[in-house]
Amino acid sequence: MEKIFFVASILILSIWAIPVHSNYYSKSIPYDPIQLKKTHLHFYLHDILSGKNPTAVQISGPKPTPNNPTPFGSIFALDDPITEGPELSSKVIGNAQGTYLSSNQGKDLNLVLSIDIGFTAGKFNGSSISVFSRNPVTEKHREIAIVGGRGRFRYARGFIAVNTYYLNTTNGDAVLEYNAEIIHH
Ligand SMILES: *[C@@H]1O[C@H](CO)[C@@H](O)[C@H](O)[C@H]1NC(C)=O
Ligand SMILES: *[C@@H]1O[C@H](CO)[C@@H](O)[C@H](O)[C@H]1NC(C)=O
Repeated sequence: MEKIFFVASILILSIWAIPVHSNYYSKSIPYDPIQLKKTHLHFYLHDILSGKNPTAVQISGPKPTPNNPTPFGSIFALDDPITEGPELSSKVIGNAQGTYLSSNQGKDLNLVLSIDIGFTAGKFNGSSISVFSRNPVTEKHREIAIVGGRGRFRYARGFIAVNTYYLNTTNGDAVLEYNAEIIHH
């Protein structure tokens, strides 16, 4: 008798537990997608290895030789100014900080960049884009990848078309023209 009562209460309890909306159900709520922006930026980057005030210094790896300022395996730290025009005397709008690694064992120089390009002027003051990419330096026109960003460049992705504006192959000094296309929030 007790057993039957027990089974019966379980059955009653499970009936109570059946969800109420077994009917066809639908509900719509507003969906607000974030409008992505596309920004083009054009500037010049000055990578100076020579002289008393270099903007890039070797921090490890084999010793540079004449005509090979960046031997395979060498790592450089950089704090390169970026400017509006190709001359170093033109308006400074930010800087590129980070490292590059000479990564190609073959004859063509390849630098793997891991740099943060930050802006100190204009509407992007305080914002930056993150670059992690191989950079086949011997190709005059090449492309490097933008993998993220800060500030107004949150969730950035994109690429930079790089053009060698000036290169001294003896000491490694270079002026690079950067043409960036950035998709971001
Ligand atoms: C850029 O931002 C910094 C920090 O907010 C500020 O001190 C500086 O004056 C700003 N520069 C320009 C050119 O707006
Ligand atoms: C390139 O660098 C070498 C070594 O510093 C220097 O002697 C030469 O004048 C430079 N070339 C140019 C075109 O500036």
